Amino acid sequence: MQTTPRPLTSRSRAASPRLAESVSPPSPLSTYQTPVNPAPPPTNSDWVSTGHLPTQSVVQQLVDWAHQRFAAVGDGEVADYIPALAAANPDHFGICIAASDGQLVAAGQSEQPFSIQSISKPFLFALICQAIGEDAAKEKLGVNSTGLPFNSVLAVERSGEGLSNPMVNAGAIAATSLAPGDSAEAKWAFIEAGFSRFAGRPLEIDATVYASERATNQSNVGIANLLSAQERLWFDPEISTDLYTRQCSLSITTRDLALMAATLGNGGRQPVSGVQVVDPVICQHVLAVMVTAGLYETSGDWLYDTGLPGKSGVSGGMITVIPGKGGLATFSPPLDDAGNSVRGQLTAQFLSERLGLNLFASRPAV
Ligand code: DON
Repeated sequence: MQTTPRPLTSRSRAASPRLAESVSPPSPLSTYQTPVNPAPPPTNSDWVSTGHLPTQSVVQQLVDWAHQRFAAVGDGEVADYIPALAAANPDHFGICIAASDGQLVAAGQSEQPFSIQSISKPFLFALICQAIGEDAAKEKLGVNSTGLPFNSVLAVERSGEGLSNPMVNAGAIAATSLAPGDSAEAKWAFIEAGFSRFAGRPLEIDATVYASERATNQSNVGIANLLSAQERLWFDPEISTDLYTRQCSLSITTRDLALMAATLGNGGRQPVSGVQVVDPVICQHVLAVMVTAGLYETSGDWLYDTGLPGKSGVSGGMITVIPGKGGLATFSPPLDDAGNSVRGQLTAQFLSERLGLNLFASRPAV
């Protein structure tokens, strides 16, 4: 049976073209003579789409409504493949929206701590892009969706080059191995400090979750070894997996996550601390990968329903980034079959629609 797709040509595959390298003077639009080497057109930062959330009281009303309505939904199962996660209370349900100006609207258990799990992935990717450059990160990790579950080994083999994307375990472990520093401690210091800047406060590991995942982490170690064999890992496989596990065990609240998501939606500037955590251009690349792969094999359903970049984690957290406006975070442990919070998805879908957040929505010009 053939497991790797046949190349389209016998020559090696050409990389996708980059505008920065190929940009040439615009062709003349009309009859006037353009200069031979015209100055490049102005950059677009002044014309990036912007907006704002509705008033705080409208947002609060809708957040309260969503909390009340979706708290009654009993579907989904709490994850138990990491034994410590099985102890989560399935009734816990928190919602928080952080606006780009730092205003917060919350309902339910928005201050309940839980481990960040896979929601760490977009933030790690952002930090690595900032450290090594977004082009190098794309080339080393890949940015195409796998269409397969988050822990798929097949996805790594099938790409033929050991590439996946930084929203799945393989790509996230590879991204972790690229953290600056030549020791586990130095790499961890970089990761911990970066995540804390996103949250706007010092974050700490949930020691129980870390110990539990570390003891049951064989498949992630296997993925790391496979990546290493394909020369797609840039540090020791066991240490890279351990650093990845530590970062997944960072303890956060829904409020923290809303501010972290809002940072990605605010050109990389933390709305409360005002710290520029990563460059604006990095955020747009991170959000692009979240759109295509943030909910793994159900990313298409998610995008169809919300029209926004999102990321889920097996502890029951979810973030939704609202570019230019803020970030939404939810916490509710019962998950669907793909590992995404059931109430989290319903909340994001409802608020996207009612708050007019869908990036693809438009109105006819008057
Ligand atoms: O590597 C793992 O399996 C976990 N630390 C994270 C997985 C996860 O959160 C998947 N998301 N829905």
